[in-house]
Amino acid sequence: MKIERILPFARTLLSQAISPGEVAVDATVGNGHDTLFLANLVGETGHVYGFDIQDEAIMNTQSKLQEKDLLHRVTLLHKGHEHVSEHVPTKVSGAIFNLGYLPGGDKAIVTTPPTTISAVKQILSLLKPEGIIVIVVYHGHPEGQEERDQLLTFVESIDQQEAHVLQYKFLNQQNNPPFIIAIEKRSP
Ligand SMILES: C[S@@+](CC[C@H](N)C(=O)[O-])C[C@H]1O[C@@H](n2cnc3c(N)ncnc32)[C@H](O)[C@@H]1O
Repeated sequence: MKIERILPFARTLLSQAISPGEVAVDATVGNGHDTLFLANLVGETGHVYGFDIQDEAIMNTQSKLQEKDLLHRVTLLHKGHEHVSEHVPTKVSGAIFNLGYLPGGDKAIVTTPPTTISAVKQILSLLKPEGIIVIVVYHGHPEGQEERDQLLTFVESIDQQEAHVLQYKFLNQQNNPPFIIAIEKRSP
């Protein structure tokens, strides 16, 4: 068996936690690749809530979903993920964050430590037992290093009775490759 690479591993974790009929969150919609992936996982009777602060991201994702006839499975919100609990009315089985800037977009628009941590806390309280939050941390840009450090400090402080917290990272790669933080809620 090969060691699974970062992006495939993020999807493996999501697909293990999310079943048809359940609810998922894409906290950073961007170009919509993960939104589409989640829309397939939740099936016809489930639902996905997707958040992004950039109009461009919402529009691109909307057309991507329309092309595949999956838009009805998704609510796209042109809002920051720090507002997640105002918009997601039900328990969640899985959520994904891809931190940093929109590939091919404005590199000055990035996720930030307080809003990311606030959204993770809110989703953690919405998670079902054995539900998962997968965070792909991009830390090649200066703001990304600060976000990585604050996020690691926060997740390391999550009570081990509440959740299992995993860091998945290749240790010998150069140039700050992305890594995963996964938070799996435990049964009460
Ligand atoms: C790395 S990109 C996401 C890539 C995406 N998963 C894909 O498949 O293309 C990060 C996205 O986070 C968005 N973002 C930044 N701050 C945000 C916030 N507070 N709430 C929601 N999205 C935010 C950016 O606009 C950007 O589109």
